[in-house]
Amino acid sequence: MSVREEFDEWAAAGKDRGMERRHWHTAKHALSRMPVEEGETVVDLGTGSGYVLRALREAAGIGRGYGLDGSPEMLHNARSYTDDPAVGFVRGDFDALPWSSDSVDHVFSMEAFYYASNPHTTLEEVRRILRPGGTFYCAVNYYEENVHSQSPNRTPSPTARPKSRQPTRSRPTTGSRGPTWSNGIASTARS
Ligand SMILES: C[S@@+](CC[C@H](N)C(=O)[O-])C[C@H]1O[C@@H](n2cnc3c(N)ncnc32)[C@H](O)[C@@H]1O
Repeated sequence: MSVREEFDEWAAAGKDRGMERRHWHTAKHALSRMPVEEGETVVDLGTGSGYVLRALREAAGIGRGYGLDGSPEMLHNARSYTDDPAVGFVRGDFDALPWSSDSVDHVFSMEAFYYASNPHTTLEEVRRILRPGGTFYCAVNYYEENVHSQSPNRTPSPTARPKSRQPTRSRPTTGSRGPTWSNGIASTARS
């Protein structure tokens, strides 16, 4: 079963709201560090239920929020949770972001980046769409049994297996010049 199919099943079963509640505990700390200003445009990669954009509209007054996800069912649910015309949801893949260059103020991603089939391509795409001075905040939960959420420099224990907490795929392979990871939250700004 593909990652898209698995998340489609999750969304159809209503598990996106439980995921939202669990992830909010971490996401709120990453969001509070983002230098978001009123009226700015924010993209949320792997948006799931879209709660990040709803929160940023309410708390920070962003001007436009776009949530990208590869799962049609997730997007269906995300759209049903808001009627805010300033928030939009688009189907797409982390490999090719459907925004023009220098058009976005901030990119956010919570517990999704390690699904990127080519993390370097995704980072290049993030850089391309960000305006100079824009920021990328990326948060991932680390949990020991999931080999995909461990440090790229750490050899997974042979007994470590991903549990069925959520579908898993590739892990980020940021090199020595990649973003610095701290407490599962990484940020970088476009020069
Ligand atoms: C674990 S969920 C996290 C959702 C949300 N960010 C949250 O914090 O609850 C990961 C999301 O990323 C999406 N996703 C996974 N791989 C993707 C890809 N290559 N392109 C676009 N979306 C993807 C999934 O469909 C899913 O909705």
